[in-house]
Amino acid sequence: MNNIAKQTVLIVDDQESIRVALSRMLSKEGYEVLLADEGEKALVVLREKKVNVMLSDLKMPKMDGLQLLKASKLVKPEVEVILITAHGTIEKAVGAMKDGAYDFITKPFKKIVIVNMIKKALEKQALVVENRNLHEQLAHSGQSGIIGQSDVMGDVIKLAEQVAPSQASVLIQGENGTGKESIASLIHRIGARSDKPFIKVSCAALPDTLLESELFGYEKGAFTGAVSQKEGRFELANEGTLFLDEIGEITPSIQVKLLRVLQEGEFERLGGTKVLRSNVRIISATNVNLENAIKQKRFREDLYYRLNVITMNMPPLRERREDIPLLISHFLKIYQEKNNKVVDGISEDVLDILTDYQWPGNVREIKNIIERAVVLTQDRIITQKDLPENISKKKAEERKLTIPFGMPLREIEKKIIIETLRRSKGDKEITANLLGITPRTIYRKMNSLEEDEKQEQEEDVNING
Ligand SMILES: Nc1ncnc2c1ncn2[C@@H]1O[C@H](COP(=O)(O)OP(=O)(O)OP(=O)(O)O)[C@@H](O)[C@H]1O
Ligand SMILES: [Mg+2]
Repeated sequence: MNNIAKQTVLIVDDQESIRVALSRMLSKEGYEVLLADEGEKALVVLREKKVNVMLSDLKMPKMDGLQLLKASKLVKPEVEVILITAHGTIEKAVGAMKDGAYDFITKPFKKIVIVNMIKKALEKQALVVENRNLHEQLAHSGQSGIIGQSDVMGDVIKLAEQVAPSQASVLIQGENGTGKESIASLIHRIGARSDKPFIKVSCAALPDTLLESELFGYEKGAFTGAVSQKEGRFELANEGTLFLDEIGEITPSIQVKLLRVLQEGEFERLGGTKVLRSNVRIISATNVNLENAIKQKRFREDLYYRLNVITMNMPPLRERREDIPLLISHFLKIYQEKNNKVVDGISEDVLDILTDYQWPGNVREIKNIIERAVVLTQDRIITQKDLPENISKKKAEERKLTIPFGMPLREIEKKIIIETLRRSKGDKEITANLLGITPRTIYRKMNSLEEDEKQEQEEDVNING
């Protein structure tokens, strides 16, 4: 495990001899080992330290392994838990699997068995997205360079395959980062003009005269600085495909000139008089709604119909969440190679977070986030800490409780008890374990809270009345 941050195993057992033996064994295997002699201390470690696997005795005097398991699933659900049982308690251990235990091991155990079990638990934690199934799907998508097995993406790719051989102009609509340019390039690559150039013009990036000279070229002396003649993109793309990106941004004067080339195939260079001809296939893209722009008289309807023989709509990522694991896997592969790093996968909670997220920046955003995570991670597994704060915060917040400064102690107690009960789905035993009090204390506190409330209400009535 050279060069890679160690994986951490937390050992929980009330018997010192077992703690020592396990600790020695696992340290030798290269694991970082943490120890706790009772459940309550284990929960503190779980809260404060990075733990990958928890190995806990089932039978312990105060909080037993089962209670610890349940509490740990609330504190750090991503930690895999292995329970150690004696012969008499196997049944209980089997039941624990339903509560989320990864596995159990019966005393006395062999070193090889426990080492393998920990290895497997770690693999499970890491390889959520790296399974064979995904690899096969990826290999399939690889040919088009467009990743996506969702029905909506399937339709997009099918349409691209249908329109590619034709000369029809295609208008690709979609939010930022949905893959408009990627699909345009795919249409060119599998189309009849694939051996001719694919030329891109970003219409939004340029002021009018510059855009005009980009599109149509200029003659020497056409303007100050035009020291020699230059070919425009229409000439460069001749017999190939011209990709007009962000077409919704072009001004009326460019719209007129564009319409002329599209209708007649003719244009002149800036400052020139010679009529030039170009045979290009036009693919354009926009993230603004052109029909609205037409209604607002910002975009010419006749140009719109020239550009829009075929419309393709790129679905936003939030409407095809089933593609998220595939995209993660794809970008992990790319950025591992690029950064010369080995990353096995992402943890289950990271996958949850990324699957829930709204993705305003679509595929480009997920791509950037995976690149960032691969660069930052010190483990072989990408975990929450490798995600940007705005993305991981929401989930992490769910495990935190905010207490405003100046809140009375009694209120704080009330808040934490109620919130812990809520998150443990009303389980008083788990709540007591997490809070380090007895279930009786919960009853007592809850009752006294109720009494307090009653009293407060009475006081309110007295004041009001
Ligand atoms: N389905 C996909 N599979 C793999 N990579 C994709 C996919 N869609 C987009 N990408 C990648 O995401 C990034 C953004 O895609 P692209 O530039 O095609 O989107 P766009 O819609 O043109 O974005 P913008 O509106 O910002 O111009 C690119 O790096 C592209 O390679
Ligand atoms: Mg684009």
